[in-house]
Amino acid sequence: MPIRVSLAGATGWAGSALALAAARSNDITLVSAVSRTHAGQILGDVLNEPLLKCPVFATAQEALAHPCDVFFEFTKPEVARSNVMAALQRGAHVVIGTSGLTEADFAEIAAVANDRHLGVLAVGNFALTVVLLQKFSEIAARYIPQWEIIDYANDGKKDAPSGTARELAFRLSNIRPSEPTIPLEQTLGIVETRGARLTGSQVHSIRLPGYTISAEIIFGMPDQKLTIRHDSGSSAQPYVDGALLAIRKVSTFVGLRRGLDNVLDL
Ligand SMILES: NC(=O)c1ccc[n+]([C@@H]2O[C@H](COP(=O)([O-])OP(=O)(O)OC[C@H]3O[C@@H](n4cnc5c(N)ncnc54)[C@H](OP(=O)(O)O)[C@@H]3O)[C@@H](O)[C@H]2O)c1
Repeated sequence: MPIRVSLAGATGWAGSALALAAARSNDITLVSAVSRTHAGQILGDVLNEPLLKCPVFATAQEALAHPCDVFFEFTKPEVARSNVMAALQRGAHVVIGTSGLTEADFAEIAAVANDRHLGVLAVGNFALTVVLLQKFSEIAARYIPQWEIIDYANDGKKDAPSGTARELAFRLSNIRPSEPTIPLEQTLGIVETRGARLTGSQVHSIRLPGYTISAEIIFGMPDQKLTIRHDSGSSAQPYVDGALLAIRKVSTFVGLRRGLDNVLDL
């Protein structure tokens, strides 16, 4: 039986690429979609793909009235948390692609997922090169005690830091915090220029025209440093394969997992 998916954000930049890929897959079928501006239409008419026959609803709550196995969240941070909670209450496993959820949101989501014996896979970035950046960074943090993270995006991205930067900082916090040589409170001048402290990492978010999405981490030691960087191009293609894999794997565990490598054999 194909996996039945409700896709919130199906008409967006990332969601539409995922919807078109799902239409071409043998084991995933979209049963409902969410978009306010296209509510009441058939998704295939909106995306010009006759294989996509599912209806579009204005809210996740309406879409979830149709049974699904997996709810995929690809909308905006403002509604992501409540969409995820609604899906868990309905008994669906959840994949979160939307960025901007806080550590408190994730703690709450994890508790509900455990309670309901459902899987939630939150992936700040589905691209393989980001998955590898995270993995390599975890190895580096075991040997190098100081690092800073820089996240680059276009000027239209409202949330900061990016989901990628949040996830990276969270994962490194399981290894150790990065300790600046001069404690932040002893900074002379403007402390904000040192970036934000996020789960043990200093994070700097650049938002400028001309950028797509990049993530960089710099590890520094006396007389040597290591930079690991991911750059994505302008298409949503790098995210599609990882997103399909997440849909296939999210029902294989209970509770919240963060990062695609949790379901990969790396
Ligand atoms: N994890 C990853 O690898 C990855 C990759 C790419 C993007 N992202 C993240 O995914 C999210 C979406 O990115 P995007 O670039 O695809 O955005 P986008 O092009 O603006 O698309 C957003 C989608 O969500 C819908 N939407 C927005 N607000 C909504 C609301 N209040 N209720 C219902 N539907 C709503 C939009 O349709 P309507 O406006 O018609 O409602 C549209 O379908 C962002 O948080 C982005 O950072 C993550």
